[in-house]
Amino acid sequence: MKRAVYPGSFDPVTFGHLDVIRRASEMFDVLVVSVLNNKVKSPLFSVEERVKILREATKDIPNVEVDSFSGLLINYAAENNMHVAVRGLRAITDFEYELQIAQTNRKLSGGALDTVFLTTSLEYAYLSSSSVKEIASFGGDISECVPDFVARLMKEKYIQ
Ligand code: PNS
Repeated sequence: MKRAVYPGSFDPVTFGHLDVIRRASEMFDVLVVSVLNNKVKSPLFSVEERVKILREATKDIPNVEVDSFSGLLINYAAENNMHVAVRGLRAITDFEYELQIAQTNRKLSGGALDTVFLTTSLEYAYLSSSSVKEIASFGGDISECVPDFVARLMKEKYIQ
């Protein structure tokens, strides 16, 4: 049974993430999409909300599970029998950061956790959770960026 983890902040999940999730789910028996519980960042959605949103957005993909984790990814992966981490690459600017994380994880885990990169589909290459939040905070149209129910939830957050 090949289990892979797709870790991230997912604040919120975008069509770019969902594209990576769909494609990675076809490569592994189980893909665990896991939300990092990062106490340093101040997110728009709580970890619980992000998990709920991801479950709704991936409910039609049977081999996708949604979870959350804190601490080091390599420890979480080892505890859950996952030996591959999936990450999306949009542009060269992502590469340096991602390469460093991937190499650190491989080294720290003694080779137990490798990283597979999927290049984001071109139509989503411009998307990031941060820009989606900025657009939504000014009342802009994010219908091309996130599922409708996520856009509604974001609107509610910014109205509060
Ligand atoms: O969506 P993001 O915020 O770019 O995801 C970053 C993430 C969650 C993949 C990365 O920050 C992570 O794995 N953090 C967990 C802590 C860890 O294992 N750090 C060691 C690698 S430098």
